[in-house]
Amino acid sequence: MVGPLILAIDEGTTNAKAIAVDRDGRVVARGSQSLTLQHPQPGLAEQDPVAIWLAVKEAITHCLAACGGASVAAVAISNQRESVLIWQRRDGKPLTPLVSWQDRRSELLCRDLRQAGKAPRITGLTGLAVDPMFPAAKLTGMLAAIPDGAARAAAGELCIGTVDSWLSWQLSAGEVFITDHANASRTQLYSLHLNDWDDELLTLFQLPRAALPRITASASEQGVVAVNDIPGLAPGTPILARIGDSHAALQAQRRGESEVVKATYGTGSSLMMSMATPLLTENGLSTTVAWHDGTLRYAFEGNITHTGSGAAWLGRMLGVQEPRELTAMAQRCDDNQGIYFVPALSGLGAPWWDLQARGMVCGLTDAATPAVLARVALESIVWQIADVFFAMEQASGQQLPALCVDGSATENSWLMQLQADVLQRPLQRVPTAEVSALGAALLAGKVLGWWQQGSDMQALQGGSVIMPREEHAQRMQENYKGWIDAVARCRYQPH
Ligand code: G3P
Repeated sequence: MVGPLILAIDEGTTNAKAIAVDRDGRVVARGSQSLTLQHPQPGLAEQDPVAIWLAVKEAITHCLAACGGASVAAVAISNQRESVLIWQRRDGKPLTPLVSWQDRRSELLCRDLRQAGKAPRITGLTGLAVDPMFPAAKLTGMLAAIPDGAARAAAGELCIGTVDSWLSWQLSAGEVFITDHANASRTQLYSLHLNDWDDELLTLFQLPRAALPRITASASEQGVVAVNDIPGLAPGTPILARIGDSHAALQAQRRGESEVVKATYGTGSSLMMSMATPLLTENGLSTTVAWHDGTLRYAFEGNITHTGSGAAWLGRMLGVQEPRELTAMAQRCDDNQGIYFVPALSGLGAPWWDLQARGMVCGLTDAATPAVLARVALESIVWQIADVFFAMEQASGQQLPALCVDGSATENSWLMQLQADVLQRPLQRVPTAEVSALGAALLAGKVLGWWQQGSDMQALQGGSVIMPREEHAQRMQENYKGWIDAVARCRYQPH
């Protein structure tokens, strides 16, 4: 095999993956290692930071073993976002678990901040709703639980970092403590007005600046590999990119200078729309940094808490374990009979942001069958994506021409057709499941002068378009109204 290659890491909640990408943008090798998530108490979600690093090393080792000794020109990192840990600067020892983006431990603090009227100011600075998904409020408690934590952090003895910071630190053997603008903008400590950590927020959340990483461009050389125990990865290899996974997928989906809207279908979902300036809205969308590749680019984002996991939950209640089986069951009926499943299993995310909303199946009659429930389980995914898509249209004041889609559920053509019919827009489906890793590789490739955009990479060429069926437009519009009524019913109603 000929080199050189870009090694792109995609560290997610359930897997650490690595791919090797050649000069033509083809994926020539891959490695993967699964990870576990612990729930020590209801509402808590944690991972072992050392296990994550070992899994990344394992994935890289497998990937590079298949590359026949080709040289690695650069390392790129795409990572799960909003998950944080604290470690000791002198020896890299983690003092906390990695507290996952799924963790709800800061629910009370978030509620207090909202009740104290702080939410508009926090959202105005950061572009993010006050919600336990974002790390700032979790970090307050995590630091407070470390003996002498505040004093040690202020003295620069501790490092507070996201997964990209942790992996850059590990790869460089503790030489660099950095993050990129995109990951930083998801912490709720980063000001969209200053493009830096914000002192007002640091004071509010009682976190000292001395413990935070230096913020860098997403695409730029920041340190080199210094560990020498990963076969095939030579010390001295430059680390050229780091970026959150959803941002990386957006980067991969973008063509030239034109803006794009993408949806990633996973456990939850993230819709992102790129834009040149950070437009703040009041309709439930986050405003965030998309990336910094020489220019800072921004995005609207809507994070939906339960899409795949919501459908899977109702599927399990029906005794169905496999998504394929659930789809086969759903296809037995061609209408939802006015039944809706709102998967507010831990409140509702974008665009509703209601921590107290609770899940609900409504509209049941004695004609309901398991097949129709399977259908409404899957429909809940497309309705929720539509909520955010329409909010983006409203916020941007423009009709969005299409939706680019990626993630595991996009293989389900029946579901994607339903999505296109609901939105009445074409869906553009990428030809690969490795879009986040490829987005990170693309950023590194830009630094190397290999590519300018995703379509320069062979792995991102092609794909398919799913056209909406006009004859379904009216029925879908009526059904969507039914969905909006169902969401209203599951919202918290104070008496
Ligand atoms: O915002 C959370 C997201 O980045 C998690 O990604 O790949 O772990 O589901 P993933």
